[in-house]
Amino acid sequence: MSRKPIIAGNWKMNLCQSEAKSLFEGICSFVSNYKATELPCVVIAPVFTSLCCVHPVSCDCGCEGYKLSVSGQNCHWESSGAYTGEISCEMLKDAGCSYCIIGHSERRQYFSETDEMINKKAKACLSCGLTPIICCGESLEQRESGVTDEWISSQIRAALSGISSEDVSRCVIAYEPIWAIGTGKSCDAEEANRVCAMIRKVVSECSGQSAADSIRILYGGSVKPSTIEEQMSKSDIDGALIGGASLKADSFNEIIEKTMKTCSCCV
Ligand code: PGA
Repeated sequence: MSRKPIIAGNWKMNLCQSEAKSLFEGICSFVSNYKATELPCVVIAPVFTSLCCVHPVSCDCGCEGYKLSVSGQNCHWESSGAYTGEISCEMLKDAGCSYCIIGHSERRQYFSETDEMINKKAKACLSCGLTPIICCGESLEQRESGVTDEWISSQIRAALSGISSEDVSRCVIAYEPIWAIGTGKSCDAEEANRVCAMIRKVVSECSGQSAADSIRILYGGSVKPSTIEEQMSKSDIDGALIGGASLKADSFNEIIEKTMKTCSCCV
């Protein structure tokens, strides 16, 4: 089963407009050398105030694909209303987004996001045509006490609850062990692949084999140009969600380039 890989840059709370613009230009000039069919799905997730400084880049070869797509880092499940400080999926679409990261561990940890909220956000994304990138992952304590698989499967079951199989196949899941995020210590590729395969099995149990075969599962946590090739060589890892290394055009472009070398993007 071939799934087009995704290389997504999560800029987190970094880069003011002028910096966002210059990083965007650095990525654009790299992807402009290729057709969309040669590239992985390249996605960038800037802060909300920099969404106006970036835009999706469509392919000029007539394939109707995109060389670069834009993502939100978070959304609210309501479409509008009295929710000070929040942003809706419709607003993200209006600003050029076609993806939205939801349930990142930093949002779960610092903003008390629950599985139930993440499920509502996933449904809101899907109903307005945004692809949710649903994050999951265990803490170091959970890993050391041997509950990783149990914890992650409960996060996935809750996030996908009540979503049709057809919609599940359009979702993206990012497995990001919390202890690997921003630490420089990436999860061993074999182990990351084992967890991604376990997630795919959970998806097949809740949404059927066809959704499990189609859904793309990314790895995230200290992904760098030096780790991507091994990660992308694994059967159940369909791409990467990248924080630190996505903040420099050189390292992000190198990750894209290495992904193109290690797997067939042309699907
Ligand atoms: P990192 O962040 O690549 O800096 O570890 C990944 C993420 O949090 O999405």
